[in-house]
Amino acid sequence: MLLTLRVQGARSWVKSTRCLASSAAPAKSPSSPPQLEVSGSTYATDGWTNVTPKILSYLGANKHLQTDHPLSIIRQRIVNYFYGAYRNQRGNPLFSVYDQMNPVVTVQQNFDNLLIPADHVSRQKSDCYYINQQHLLRAHTTAHQVELISGGLDNFLVVGEVYRRDEIDSTHYPVFHQADAVRLVTKDKLFERNPGLELFEETWSGTLPDPKLILPSSKFMDQTKQPCHTLEAVKLMEHEMKHVLVGLTKDLFGPRIKYRWVDTYFPFTQPSWELEIYFKDNWLEVLGCGIMRHEILQRSGVHQSIGYAFGVGLERLAMVLFDVPDIRLFWSNDSGFLSQFSEKDLHNLPKYKPISHYPQCTNDLSFWLPQDIEVDAGFSPNDFYDLVRSVAGDMVEQISLVDKFKHPKTGRSSVCFRIVYRHMERTLTQAEVNEIHKQIASASVDSFNVQIR
Ligand code: DAH
Repeated sequence: MLLTLRVQGARSWVKSTRCLASSAAPAKSPSSPPQLEVSGSTYATDGWTNVTPKILSYLGANKHLQTDHPLSIIRQRIVNYFYGAYRNQRGNPLFSVYDQMNPVVTVQQNFDNLLIPADHVSRQKSDCYYINQQHLLRAHTTAHQVELISGGLDNFLVVGEVYRRDEIDSTHYPVFHQADAVRLVTKDKLFERNPGLELFEETWSGTLPDPKLILPSSKFMDQTKQPCHTLEAVKLMEHEMKHVLVGLTKDLFGPRIKYRWVDTYFPFTQPSWELEIYFKDNWLEVLGCGIMRHEILQRSGVHQSIGYAFGVGLERLAMVLFDVPDIRLFWSNDSGFLSQFSEKDLHNLPKYKPISHYPQCTNDLSFWLPQDIEVDAGFSPNDFYDLVRSVAGDMVEQISLVDKFKHPKTGRSSVCFRIVYRHMERTLTQAEVNEIHKQIASASVDSFNVQIR
């Protein structure tokens, strides 16, 4: 399998910000219920609500905790590595693990607390599953950082599923899993052997920024360090973090794996890096990390520490380590898939053996958009992908937007989607596919007011 660089793991934060005006809350869809019951709590719906019953059905699946599941095996490998890498004087692990945090988070937890700019693309309705304007299904496990640090933790891992609206293909699924870690250290610990050194610049005021203040983006800062930190503190922390993360990578991929560090941008760390490994003739990004923005620590009540954090996608690792060719397989209940993996020997990871290949069926669907609506201006392909997911579930392997054009006379826009149907566990008949395809067409007419061509 040639693994593309696009397997889900961490998002690209570097992309420029996009104006959010086009995704301003539209009128509430008449079909959505007035309130939703999610994980035992009730939420009023509004114009931001875009979670579908299909997506909500993934809550509580906990694939990362399912015995013998490949994602659970990867979770345990990461956790065990951290348990071994950091121990206290009595030999006990320093890190604590949170793997059952509620995936319903607030906009504040997912974005504001992490200094993600108000106009950042990642907040868009077309990219996230919102329950209402204030609540969403977490788009990254980083969303739990502030609550855990505020609770007094200084070494922890968060593992769980995250939800993102995206395209449909063999490497993208609306739900996938991440592990995130935070390590905070004080001056005494960091400079154990150089007690004269300081974490913070003498000239730095140390005051807590006004919570209403819009903080400068890491993008526009000195790239070597944040103004508050001393260079020595940042360099030592960077060294420790990179050493530990290269150790994790070698633990997972073997001691001879070729790797490189790439400078990058995350709103919540500065400086920031991605770690890439050379795998099957490609550089594959495995994780994102960096020195935590000090304002995040200050706002969590921590004033005398410096921290590093990182995030990693579990499917991405599992697809490489077990040679799993399609991300949907992680959701399969087929014993032919599940029986191939065992957590008895976490260090002997078997390569996945395809059970059999079922044939694909490809059908195109073309429609006229309503007058004055265009792709990404009133019609978001991600909305269509969610509709397809709701109607056809995992029968769909891939969707691509193969054509779009504007009629020169009427000015109306037309789009054509190619839908590839293939079930993971059985052969689909053409008649069955045609029936589902028809249902997708009529659901599109109902939901988007389009005209099938
Ligand atoms: N949350 C990021 C993502 O989903 C990944 C990440 C990057 C997490 C850097 C971190 C971090 O904690 O420090 O793309």
